[in-house]
Amino acid sequence: MASRQTKKSLNNSRPSIKEFLQKNAGALEPQELDQLLALALHKKIEYIYKKPEKLLSHSTILSFKKLLRKRLAGWSLAYLKGYKEFYGLKFLVSKNTLIPRPESELIIDEALKFTQNKQNIIDIGTGTGCLILSLAKNNNQTASYLATDISLAALKTARTNARKLGLNKQIKFLQSNLLKKIPAKKFAIVMANLPYLTPQQLKEPSIQKEPRLALLAGKDGLNYYRQLLEQLPNYLADKYLILLEIDPAQHELIKKIIKAQLPQAKIEFLKDLANNIRIVKVSQ
Ligand SMILES: C[S@@+](CC[C@H](N)C(=O)[O-])C[C@H]1O[C@@H](n2cnc3c(N)ncnc32)[C@H](O)[C@@H]1O
Repeated sequence: MASRQTKKSLNNSRPSIKEFLQKNAGALEPQELDQLLALALHKKIEYIYKKPEKLLSHSTILSFKKLLRKRLAGWSLAYLKGYKEFYGLKFLVSKNTLIPRPESELIIDEALKFTQNKQNIIDIGTGTGCLILSLAKNNNQTASYLATDISLAALKTARTNARKLGLNKQIKFLQSNLLKKIPAKKFAIVMANLPYLTPQQLKEPSIQKEPRLALLAGKDGLNYYRQLLEQLPNYLADKYLILLEIDPAQHELIKKIIKAQLPQAKIEFLKDLANNIRIVKVSQ
């Protein structure tokens, strides 16, 4: 009897999912709060909605509080979860990689329209590997894939992602400052989402926990693309497609830079879902 009572009083001190969410409403946006609790429970988000009466253990509450502290300190949900979905695939992220953004998926849509058998394909500044791995996963043609990054830590994450997606035998990874260490080869598809932010844009609060090496690119944000476009002409196949992600404000300037290096190329701009110019498509 006594032990049954103890159990009952213990349960009384344990809030249900519903009670806990009500008590913490206001700490975060409702959707984020649900996601954080699901994470603390090691469950999918649906669990929260299906089992609102489920009692929470003290260790779950402790891990929730730890996660909440980190979230409020500016760590994004993807970093807390350790992964981010991109092009329908799951990519591990780390403090050394940029979190893949949905707008970069446009690059894959465009690259897939251009694929043919036996192309050399390169992704410069691969980060998590989200671009090249998504392309390889969806490309029905045979191709040789090369992924590069200046960051060894990012390459390690990209390799792990390749292994998890069963693509490790198909993709070569190489540490290189842009094309410096890239063997003489002709690439049909070049993808690059290199850093493109200005020092002013870097102050944006939501990106404070992401690696600077993945974001900052000099006064006008085009330092890396300028250098890359100087190097690229020697690496292009007769028929090629280059896809670069940029800031909408950079489109006039990047057009000039491309024209100076590749005067014959066709230059187009693609808009993201927010209707902002996001991708430069250069082709011949
Ligand atoms: C904006 S992140 C993009 C990552 C990934 N491609 C994506 O779309 O999510 C830029 C990446 O370029 C890498 N990077 C920065 N400077 C570089 C350089 N000089 N050469 C090669 N990679 C570089 C960074 O380490 C980072 O992984």
